[in-house]
Amino acid sequence: MSIAIIFGANGGIGQEFVKQALERHAVVYACSRPAADIADDITLPNIKPMDNGLQSVQLNVLDEEHLKQLAEHVSSQYGHVDLIVNATGILHDSNGLQPEKKIEDFNLENFNKVFQINTASTALIAKYFISLLKKSESMPSVFASLSARVGSIGDNHLGGWYSYRASKAALNQIVKTLSIEAVRRNKNTAVIALHPGTTDTNLSKPFQQNVKPEKLFSSHYSVSKMFQIIDNLFIEDNGKFFAWDGSTIEW
Ligand SMILES: NC(=O)c1ccc[n+]([C@@H]2O[C@H](COP(=O)([O-])OP(=O)(O)OC[C@H]3O[C@@H](n4cnc5c(N)ncnc54)[C@H](OP(=O)(O)O)[C@@H]3O)[C@@H](O)[C@H]2O)c1
Repeated sequence: MSIAIIFGANGGIGQEFVKQALERHAVVYACSRPAADIADDITLPNIKPMDNGLQSVQLNVLDEEHLKQLAEHVSSQYGHVDLIVNATGILHDSNGLQPEKKIEDFNLENFNKVFQINTASTALIAKYFISLLKKSESMPSVFASLSARVGSIGDNHLGGWYSYRASKAALNQIVKTLSIEAVRRNKNTAVIALHPGTTDTNLSKPFQQNVKPEKLFSSHYSVSKMFQIIDNLFIEDNGKFFAWDGSTIEW
């Protein structure tokens, strides 16, 4: 049975990943932050079976106990995972966190928050789930993390956005390092980073005014393009950073 787990499942891109994963996998765990009123519930992760193989999971991606419990649940139910996607990410929030225009805007608390969500989340997910990736003989099992082109150091021509850029550059290093370890443990694995293109979600909303309409993608379009990449991965693609159109981006 084919199993997928999507983290950040309530986000613009994450929700669409869940929908399109359900077209491909028998069981899809859609993992989102718990509602504020049950945030301290020690029974988390709260796993609720829905229709058509959808399993709704309330989980904090930065809480190791939640990740451990979900991994134990998946392991006991199915023994493996075919696809893991981390679509968690932050660029701004309602508490005043904004991408820096200049270095004087840098704020240590915001930097730490951005790094926890954008960078550490992937390492924590990998810590608990990498050993569950299916050892398939044909298709590689896939661990994909949503990065961003602005995380490429070689591609940085504009500057600004120190914390977000740095968090995605560090995420890319985690993905690359994980790809080396993962393939030693399971040769039919592809660990990749994905750039979705500028996609119309809450994350990009405040920064869309200078984006040409044809360069602003719907979540449906960008996730369809990213699934085209995922569906056609070879083990040789392990450790690559892909843009939505299938081209590779320098780390
Ligand atoms: N949209 C774009 O143009 C664009 C471009 C390049 C890269 N990306 C990347 O694509 C990924 C998905 O972004 P999106 O556009 O779908 O953004 P989004 O709609 O804002 O969703 C991001 C999700 O991240 C999780 N998240 C946000 N703040 C969090 C926090 N404080 N603690 C824990 N989880 C938190 C939430 O998932 P839950 O509510 O489900 O927990 C949230 O829904 C991100 O990694 C982003 O950097 C997006």
